[in-house]
Amino acid sequence: MAGSLALLGSVVPRDARVVRKLRAVGAIILGKASMSEWAVFRSLEAPMGWNAIGGQPKNPYVLSANPSGSSTGSAISAATNLATVTLGTETDGSIITPSSANSLVGIKPTLGLTSRAGVILISPRQDTVGPICRTVLDAVFVLDEIVGFDQRDKKATIAASKFIPAGGYKQFLKAEGLRGKRLGILREPFFNFSGTSVLAQTFETHFKTLRQKGAILVDNVEISNINVILDVRESGEGLALLYEFKKALNAYLSELLVSPVRTLSDVIAFNIKHSKEEKLKEYGQDIFILAESLNRSNSSQVKRAISNLKELSRNGIEKVMREKKLDAILAPANTPVYTILAIGGYPGITVPAGYDEEGVPFGICFGGLRGSEPKLIEIAYSFEQATHIRRPPTFKS
Ligand SMILES: *[C@@H]1O[C@H](CO)[C@@H](O)[C@H](O)[C@H]1NC(C)=O
Ligand SMILES: *[C@@H]1O[C@H](CO)[C@@H](O)[C@H](O)[C@H]1NC(C)=O
Repeated sequence: MAGSLALLGSVVPRDARVVRKLRAVGAIILGKASMSEWAVFRSLEAPMGWNAIGGQPKNPYVLSANPSGSSTGSAISAATNLATVTLGTETDGSIITPSSANSLVGIKPTLGLTSRAGVILISPRQDTVGPICRTVLDAVFVLDEIVGFDQRDKKATIAASKFIPAGGYKQFLKAEGLRGKRLGILREPFFNFSGTSVLAQTFETHFKTLRQKGAILVDNVEISNINVILDVRESGEGLALLYEFKKALNAYLSELLVSPVRTLSDVIAFNIKHSKEEKLKEYGQDIFILAESLNRSNSSQVKRAISNLKELSRNGIEKVMREKKLDAILAPANTPVYTILAIGGYPGITVPAGYDEEGVPFGICFGGLRGSEPKLIEIAYSFEQATHIRRPPTFKS
Protein backbone atom coordinates (compact mmCIF):
# COMPACT_ATOMS: atom_id res chain seq x y z
CA MET A 1 0.00 0.00 0.00
CA ALA A 2 2.97 2.25 -0.69
CA GLY A 3 3.23 3.22 2.99
CA SER A 4 0.20 5.46 2.59
CA LEU A 5 -2.58 5.99 5.14
CA ALA A 6 -4.86 6.59 2.17
CA LEU A 7 -4.54 2.92 1.23
CA LEU A 8 -5.05 1.45 4.70
CA GLY A 9 -7.86 -1.07 4.41
CA SER A 10 -7.62 -1.35 0.66
CA VAL A 11 -8.00 -4.85 -0.78
CA VAL A 12 -6.08 -5.98 -3.84
CA PRO A 13 -7.77 -8.19 -6.44
CA ARG A 14 -4.91 -10.72 -6.42
CA ASP A 15 -1.26 -11.23 -5.53
CA ALA A 16 1.31 -9.49 -7.66
CA ARG A 17 2.58 -11.86 -10.33
CA VAL A 18 6.08 -12.10 -8.82
CA VAL A 19 4.58 -13.00 -5.43
CA ARG A 20 2.41 -15.67 -7.03
CA LYS A 21 5.44 -17.13 -8.72
CA LEU A 22 7.39 -17.25 -5.47
CA ARG A 23 4.50 -18.88 -3.58
CA ALA A 24 4.21 -21.46 -6.35
CA VAL A 25 7.77 -22.66 -5.70
CA GLY A 26 7.27 -22.84 -1.94
CA ALA A 27 8.32 -19.41 -0.71
CA ILE A 28 6.65 -18.25 2.49
CA ILE A 29 5.61 -14.60 2.29
CA LEU A 30 6.35 -13.02 5.67
CA GLY A 31 4.83 -9.66 4.88
CA LYS A 32 4.97 -6.39 3.07
CA ALA A 33 8.00 -4.35 4.03
CA SER A 34 8.01 -0.67 4.86
CA MET A 35 9.13 1.73 2.14
CA SER A 36 9.52 5.38 1.34
CA GLU A 37 5.94 6.57 1.03
CA TRP A 38 4.79 6.33 -2.58
CA ALA A 39 8.39 5.44 -3.51
CA VAL A 40 9.51 9.05 -2.84
CA PHE A 41 6.93 10.26 -5.33
CA ARG A 42 4.66 12.19 -2.98
CA SER A 43 7.17 14.77 -1.87
CA LEU A 44 10.93 15.20 -1.88
CA GLU A 45 10.86 16.61 1.65
CA ALA A 46 10.48 13.36 3.56
CA PRO A 47 13.69 11.57 4.55
CA MET A 48 14.48 8.28 2.80
CA GLY A 49 12.45 5.36 4.06
CA TRP A 50 9.83 7.45 5.83
CA ASN A 51 6.14 6.77 5.45
CA ALA A 52 3.08 7.87 7.38
CA ILE A 53 2.21 4.34 8.52
CA GLY A 54 5.54 3.05 9.72
CA GLY A 55 7.46 6.24 10.42
CA GLN A 56 11.21 6.44 9.96
CA PRO A 57 13.25 3.23 9.60
CA LYS A 58 16.90 3.14 10.61
CA ASN A 59 20.04 1.93 8.92
CA PRO A 60 21.03 -1.19 10.91
CA TYR A 61 24.74 -0.56 10.33
CA VAL A 62 24.78 3.01 11.65
CA LEU A 63 21.49 3.93 13.27
CA SER A 64 21.90 7.64 12.55
CA ALA A 65 22.72 7.06 8.87
CA ASN A 66 20.40 7.23 5.88
CA PRO A 67 18.83 3.78 5.37
CA SER A 68 18.21 4.84 1.75
CA GLY A 69 15.16 4.00 -0.32
CA SER A 70 12.70 3.58 -1.62
CA SER A 71 12.75 -0.20 -1.00
CA THR A 72 14.00 0.53 2.50
CA GLY A 73 12.14 -2.09 4.52
CA SER A 74 13.11 -4.86 2.11
CA ALA A 75 16.76 -3.95 2.45
CA ILE A 76 16.67 -3.65 6.23
CA SER A 77 14.79 -6.96 6.51
CA ALA A 78 17.41 -8.74 4.41
CA ALA A 79 20.31 -7.05 6.21
CA THR A 80 19.04 -8.04 9.66
CA ASN A 81 17.96 -11.59 8.76
CA LEU A 82 14.30 -10.75 9.32
CA ALA A 83 13.77 -12.41 5.95
CA THR A 84 15.87 -14.85 3.94
CA VAL A 85 15.30 -12.97 0.70
CA THR A 86 13.30 -9.88 -0.25
CA LEU A 87 11.99 -8.07 -3.30
CA GLY A 88 12.17 -4.40 -4.13
CA THR A 89 11.02 -2.23 -6.98
CA GLU A 90 12.98 0.45 -8.77
CA THR A 91 12.03 3.41 -10.90
CA ASP A 92 15.34 5.20 -10.46
CA GLY A 93 17.65 3.84 -7.77
CA SER A 94 15.15 2.21 -5.39
CA ILE A 95 16.74 -1.27 -5.47
CA ILE A 96 20.34 -0.26 -6.06
CA THR A 97 20.72 2.40 -3.35
CA PRO A 98 19.06 0.70 -0.36
CA SER A 99 21.01 -2.45 -1.23
CA SER A 100 24.18 -0.37 -1.24
CA ALA A 101 23.44 1.36 2.08
CA ASN A 102 22.57 -1.93 3.80
CA SER A 103 25.50 -3.98 2.46
CA LEU A 104 23.36 -6.15 0.23
CA VAL A 105 23.17 -7.48 -3.27
CA GLY A 106 20.43 -5.88 -5.33
CA ILE A 107 19.52 -6.90 -8.84
CA LYS A 108 17.59 -4.37 -10.88
CA PRO A 109 16.55 -6.47 -13.87
CA THR A 110 16.08 -5.37 -17.46
CA LEU A 111 12.70 -3.72 -17.89
CA GLY A 112 10.03 -6.37 -18.44
CA LEU A 113 12.17 -9.32 -17.38
CA THR A 114 9.96 -9.47 -14.28
CA SER A 115 6.25 -8.69 -14.40
CA ARG A 116 5.05 -5.48 -12.75
CA ALA A 117 1.44 -6.65 -12.50
CA GLY A 118 0.18 -5.86 -9.00
CA VAL A 119 2.88 -3.28 -8.32
CA ILE A 120 1.97 0.33 -7.56
CA LEU A 121 3.92 1.77 -10.45
CA ILE A 122 5.41 5.15 -11.04
CA SER A 123 6.30 4.36 -14.63
CA PRO A 124 5.70 1.28 -16.77
CA ARG A 125 8.56 2.62 -18.90
CA GLN A 126 11.09 2.46 -16.06
CA ASP A 127 9.83 0.31 -13.16
CA THR A 128 11.19 -3.16 -12.48
CA VAL A 129 10.91 -5.69 -9.66
CA GLY A 130 14.05 -7.39 -8.41
CA PRO A 131 15.65 -9.24 -5.52
CA ILE A 132 17.41 -7.63 -2.56
CA CYS A 133 19.41 -10.31 -0.74
CA ARG A 134 22.55 -10.97 1.30
CA THR A 135 24.41 -12.81 -1.45
CA VAL A 136 24.56 -12.90 -5.22
CA LEU A 137 23.56 -16.55 -5.08
CA ASP A 138 20.39 -15.82 -3.11
CA ALA A 139 19.50 -12.98 -5.47
CA VAL A 140 20.01 -15.13 -8.55
CA PHE A 141 17.91 -17.96 -7.09
CA VAL A 142 15.09 -15.45 -6.58
CA LEU A 143 15.57 -13.92 -10.03
CA ASP A 144 15.26 -17.33 -11.67
CA GLU A 145 11.82 -17.76 -10.12
CA ILE A 146 10.36 -14.33 -10.84
CA VAL A 147 11.29 -13.75 -14.49
CA GLY A 148 9.03 -14.48 -17.41
CA PHE A 149 5.98 -13.68 -19.46
CA ASP A 150 2.83 -12.40 -17.79
CA GLN A 151 -0.44 -11.79 -19.56
CA ARG A 152 -1.10 -8.82 -17.22
CA ASP A 153 2.14 -7.09 -18.22
CA LYS A 154 2.13 -8.38 -21.73
CA LYS A 155 4.04 -5.93 -23.85
CA ALA A 156 7.06 -5.54 -21.60
CA THR A 157 7.34 -9.18 -20.57
CA ILE A 158 7.08 -10.40 -24.18
CA ALA A 159 9.78 -7.96 -25.25
CA ALA A 160 12.13 -9.09 -22.47
CA SER A 161 11.42 -12.82 -22.58
CA LYS A 162 13.93 -13.29 -25.39
CA PHE A 163 16.66 -12.43 -22.88
CA ILE A 164 15.90 -15.30 -20.51
CA PRO A 165 18.60 -17.93 -21.02
CA ALA A 166 17.76 -21.62 -21.38
CA GLY A 167 18.62 -23.20 -18.06
CA GLY A 168 18.11 -19.95 -16.16
CA TYR A 169 20.59 -17.69 -14.40
CA LYS A 170 22.25 -20.03 -11.86
CA GLN A 171 24.68 -21.28 -14.50
CA PHE A 172 26.33 -17.83 -14.44
CA LEU A 173 27.37 -18.11 -10.78
CA LYS A 174 30.97 -18.64 -11.79
CA ALA A 175 33.78 -17.84 -9.38
CA GLU A 176 35.98 -17.08 -12.41
CA GLY A 177 33.29 -15.04 -14.11
CA LEU A 178 35.46 -11.92 -14.30
CA ARG A 179 37.95 -13.49 -16.67
CA GLY A 180 38.08 -11.56 -19.94
CA LYS A 181 35.32 -9.11 -18.95
CA ARG A 182 35.78 -5.54 -20.16
CA LEU A 183 34.61 -3.12 -17.48
CA GLY A 184 34.27 0.62 -18.06
CA ILE A 185 35.00 2.80 -15.04
CA LEU A 186 32.77 5.88 -14.98
CA ARG A 187 35.16 8.20 -13.15
CA GLU A 188 33.28 11.33 -14.13
CA PRO A 189 31.20 12.28 -12.25
CA PHE A 190 30.84 9.24 -9.99
CA PHE A 191 34.23 9.04 -8.30
CA ASN A 192 34.06 12.58 -7.07
CA PHE A 193 35.42 11.93 -3.60
CA SER A 194 38.73 12.81 -2.03
CA GLY A 195 41.63 10.55 -3.00
CA THR A 196 42.40 9.94 0.66
CA SER A 197 38.85 8.85 1.53
CA VAL A 198 38.03 5.27 2.42
CA LEU A 199 35.86 5.11 -0.70
CA ALA A 200 38.67 6.12 -3.03
CA GLN A 201 41.15 3.73 -1.45
CA THR A 202 38.67 0.87 -1.34
CA PHE A 203 37.81 1.24 -5.01
CA GLU A 204 41.49 1.33 -6.01
CA THR A 205 41.94 -1.96 -4.13
CA HIS A 206 38.91 -3.39 -5.90
CA PHE A 207 40.30 -2.40 -9.28
CA LYS A 208 43.43 -4.43 -8.48
CA THR A 209 41.29 -7.39 -7.48
CA LEU A 210 39.20 -7.12 -10.64
CA ARG A 211 42.38 -7.14 -12.74
CA GLN A 212 43.80 -10.08 -10.80
CA LYS A 213 40.61 -11.97 -11.54
CA GLY A 214 41.19 -11.39 -15.25
CA ALA A 215 38.96 -8.38 -15.97
CA ILE A 216 40.15 -5.69 -18.38
CA LEU A 217 39.46 -2.26 -16.90
CA VAL A 218 38.79 0.57 -19.31
CA ASP A 219 39.28 3.70 -17.24
CA ASN A 220 37.73 7.17 -17.60
CA VAL A 221 34.85 6.02 -19.74
CA GLU A 222 32.56 8.97 -20.42
CA ILE A 223 28.84 8.85 -21.12
CA SER A 224 27.78 11.64 -23.49
CA ASN A 225 25.51 14.28 -21.95
CA ILE A 226 25.88 12.75 -18.51
CA ASN A 227 24.95 16.04 -16.86
CA VAL A 228 21.71 16.14 -18.79
CA ILE A 229 20.96 12.50 -17.93
CA LEU A 230 21.43 13.25 -14.23
CA ASP A 231 19.16 16.31 -14.32
CA VAL A 232 15.51 15.17 -14.21
CA ARG A 233 14.29 18.49 -15.61
CA GLU A 234 16.71 18.77 -18.49
CA SER A 235 16.49 15.13 -19.54
CA GLY A 236 12.70 15.12 -19.46
CA GLU A 237 12.62 12.22 -17.01
CA GLY A 238 10.80 14.27 -14.38
CA LEU A 239 7.93 15.25 -16.66
CA ALA A 240 7.64 11.77 -18.16
CA LEU A 241 7.43 10.17 -14.70
CA LEU A 242 4.81 12.66 -13.50
CA TYR A 243 2.62 11.94 -16.48
CA GLU A 244 3.08 8.18 -16.34
CA PHE A 245 2.49 8.08 -12.59
CA LYS A 246 -0.91 9.72 -12.74
CA LYS A 247 -2.08 7.27 -15.37
CA ALA A 248 -0.56 4.20 -13.71
CA LEU A 249 -1.85 5.07 -10.24
CA ASN A 250 -5.39 5.73 -11.43
CA ALA A 251 -5.34 2.37 -13.22
CA TYR A 252 -4.05 0.58 -10.10
CA LEU A 253 -6.59 2.19 -7.78
CA SER A 254 -9.48 1.46 -10.12
CA GLU A 255 -8.67 -2.26 -9.90
CA LEU A 256 -8.76 -2.53 -6.10
CA LEU A 257 -11.66 -4.53 -4.67
CA VAL A 258 -12.00 -2.14 -1.74
CA SER A 259 -10.33 1.22 -1.44
CA PRO A 260 -10.91 4.54 0.29
CA VAL A 261 -9.38 6.25 -2.76
CA ARG A 262 -9.87 5.64 -6.48
CA THR A 263 -7.79 8.32 -8.16
CA LEU A 264 -4.72 10.44 -7.56
CA SER A 265 -7.09 13.31 -7.01
CA ASP A 266 -8.76 11.32 -4.18
CA VAL A 267 -5.36 10.65 -2.60
CA ILE A 268 -4.52 14.36 -2.68
CA ALA A 269 -7.87 15.19 -1.09
CA PHE A 270 -7.32 12.48 1.55
CA ASN A 271 -3.94 13.96 2.44
CA ILE A 272 -5.41 17.45 2.75
CA LYS A 273 -8.30 16.21 4.88
CA HIS A 274 -5.94 14.33 7.21
CA SER A 275 -3.20 16.92 7.20
CA LYS A 276 -4.03 17.89 10.77
CA GLU A 277 -3.10 14.40 11.89
CA GLU A 278 0.36 14.05 13.33
CA LYS A 279 1.60 11.53 10.80
CA LEU A 280 0.59 13.37 7.66
CA LYS A 281 1.32 16.97 8.43
CA GLU A 282 5.09 16.76 8.27
CA TYR A 283 5.66 16.60 4.57
CA GLY A 284 3.81 18.06 1.65
CA GLN A 285 2.59 16.44 -1.54
CA ASP A 286 4.12 18.73 -4.12
CA ILE A 287 4.91 15.91 -6.56
CA PHE A 288 1.34 14.61 -6.40
CA ILE A 289 -0.07 18.05 -7.10
CA LEU A 290 2.22 18.52 -10.06
CA ALA A 291 1.34 15.08 -11.44
CA GLU A 292 -2.37 15.76 -11.01
CA SER A 293 -2.06 19.04 -12.91
CA LEU A 294 -1.00 17.21 -16.07
CA ASN A 295 -3.52 16.27 -18.72
CA ARG A 296 -3.78 15.62 -22.44
CA SER A 297 -2.53 19.11 -23.19
CA ASN A 298 0.87 17.95 -21.86
CA SER A 299 1.06 14.80 -23.96
CA SER A 300 3.12 16.16 -26.82
CA GLN A 301 5.59 17.62 -24.36
CA VAL A 302 5.78 14.20 -22.68
CA LYS A 303 6.32 12.46 -26.02
CA ARG A 304 9.25 14.77 -26.68
CA ALA A 305 10.64 14.06 -23.21
CA ILE A 306 10.46 10.31 -23.76
CA SER A 307 12.12 10.50 -27.15
CA ASN A 308 14.82 12.66 -25.60
CA LEU A 309 15.43 9.98 -22.95
CA LYS A 310 15.77 7.36 -25.69
CA GLU A 311 18.22 9.54 -27.55
CA LEU A 312 20.27 10.12 -24.37
CA SER A 313 20.52 6.34 -23.92
CA ARG A 314 21.38 5.67 -27.56
CA ASN A 315 24.07 8.33 -27.58
CA GLY A 316 25.12 7.53 -24.03
CA ILE A 317 25.46 4.06 -22.57
CA GLU A 318 24.62 2.23 -25.81
CA LYS A 319 27.24 4.07 -27.84
CA VAL A 320 30.02 3.95 -25.30
CA MET A 321 29.54 0.25 -24.59
CA ARG A 322 29.64 -0.55 -28.28
CA GLU A 323 32.64 1.66 -29.04
CA LYS A 324 34.71 0.45 -26.08
CA LYS A 325 33.42 -3.13 -26.44
CA LEU A 326 32.39 -3.17 -22.79
CA ASP A 327 30.65 -5.98 -20.95
CA ALA A 328 29.63 -3.63 -18.13
CA ILE A 329 30.08 -0.18 -16.72
CA LEU A 330 30.87 0.32 -13.06
CA ALA A 331 30.58 3.06 -10.44
CA PRO A 332 29.92 3.35 -6.71
CA ALA A 333 26.32 2.31 -6.02
CA ASN A 334 25.76 5.26 -3.71
CA THR A 335 26.00 7.65 -6.66
CA PRO A 336 23.26 8.31 -9.25
CA VAL A 337 24.85 5.93 -11.77
CA TYR A 338 21.51 4.11 -11.51
CA THR A 339 19.82 6.94 -13.41
CA ILE A 340 21.73 5.96 -16.57
CA LEU A 341 20.20 2.51 -16.20
CA ALA A 342 16.77 3.76 -15.13
CA ILE A 343 15.95 5.93 -18.13
CA GLY A 344 16.60 3.13 -20.63
CA GLY A 345 15.35 0.05 -18.79
CA TYR A 346 18.89 -1.32 -18.42
CA PRO A 347 19.87 -3.83 -15.75
CA GLY A 348 22.23 -3.29 -12.84
CA ILE A 349 23.60 -5.29 -9.94
CA THR A 350 25.10 -3.88 -6.78
CA VAL A 351 27.43 -5.92 -4.58
CA PRO A 352 28.78 -4.88 -1.15
CA ALA A 353 32.06 -3.01 -1.66
CA GLY A 354 32.99 -1.54 1.72
CA TYR A 355 32.17 0.68 4.69
CA ASP A 356 32.94 4.37 4.88
CA GLU A 357 34.64 6.31 7.71
CA GLU A 358 31.44 6.12 9.78
CA GLY A 359 30.85 2.45 9.04
CA VAL A 360 28.06 3.06 6.53
CA PRO A 361 28.07 0.40 3.80
CA PHE A 362 28.45 1.15 0.12
CA GLY A 363 28.24 -1.04 -2.94
CA ILE A 364 29.78 -1.31 -6.37
CA CYS A 365 27.24 -1.12 -9.18
CA PHE A 366 27.74 -3.02 -12.43
CA GLY A 367 25.38 -2.00 -15.22
CA GLY A 368 24.90 -3.18 -18.76
CA LEU A 369 22.72 -3.28 -21.82
CA ARG A 370 19.25 -4.83 -21.84
CA GLY A 371 19.38 -8.54 -21.31
CA SER A 372 22.96 -8.58 -20.08
CA GLU A 373 22.08 -10.21 -16.73
CA PRO A 374 24.16 -13.33 -17.51
CA LYS A 375 27.34 -11.23 -17.83
CA LEU A 376 26.44 -9.02 -14.87
CA ILE A 377 25.85 -12.08 -12.69
CA GLU A 378 29.21 -13.57 -13.71
CA ILE A 379 30.92 -10.29 -12.86
CA ALA A 380 29.04 -9.71 -9.60
CA TYR A 381 29.43 -13.26 -8.32
CA SER A 382 33.12 -13.42 -9.15
CA PHE A 383 33.70 -10.04 -7.47
CA GLU A 384 31.74 -11.11 -4.40
CA GLN A 385 33.61 -14.41 -4.11
CA ALA A 386 36.95 -12.61 -4.43
CA THR A 387 36.14 -9.97 -1.80
CA HIS A 388 33.48 -11.20 0.68
CA ILE A 389 32.82 -7.69 1.97
CA ARG A 390 29.45 -8.20 3.63
CA ARG A 391 29.35 -8.57 7.38
CA PRO A 392 26.24 -8.49 9.56
CA PRO A 393 25.01 -5.14 10.88
CA THR A 394 26.16 -3.98 14.32
CA PHE A 395 23.50 -1.31 15.05
CA LYS A 396 26.14 1.32 15.79
CA SER A 397 24.59 4.36 17.43
C1 LIG B 1 -5.38 20.85 -18.73
O1 LIG B 1 -4.98 21.51 -17.55
C2 LIG B 1 -4.84 22.91 -17.71
C3 LIG B 1 -4.25 23.45 -16.42
O2 LIG B 1 -2.95 22.93 -16.22
C4 LIG B 1 -6.20 23.51 -18.07
O3 LIG B 1 -6.07 24.88 -18.26
C5 LIG B 1 -6.72 22.85 -19.32
O4 LIG B 1 -8.04 23.27 -19.59
C6 LIG B 1 -6.75 21.32 -19.21
N1 LIG B 1 -7.03 20.75 -20.49
C7 LIG B 1 -7.80 19.66 -20.64
C8 LIG B 1 -7.93 19.15 -22.02
O5 LIG B 1 -8.35 19.09 -19.71
C1 LIG C 1 1.26 21.18 -18.81
O1 LIG C 1 0.67 21.92 -19.82
C2 LIG C 1 0.20 23.19 -19.42
C3 LIG C 1 -0.50 23.81 -20.59
O2 LIG C 1 -1.71 23.14 -20.82
C4 LIG C 1 1.36 24.04 -18.94
O3 LIG C 1 0.91 25.27 -18.48
C5 LIG C 1 2.08 23.31 -17.83
O4 LIG C 1 3.25 24.01 -17.45
C6 LIG C 1 2.48 21.90 -18.24
N1 LIG C 1 3.00 21.21 -17.09
C7 LIG C 1 4.28 20.84 -16.96
C8 LIG C 1 4.69 20.19 -15.67
O5 LIG C 1 5.13 21.01 -17.82
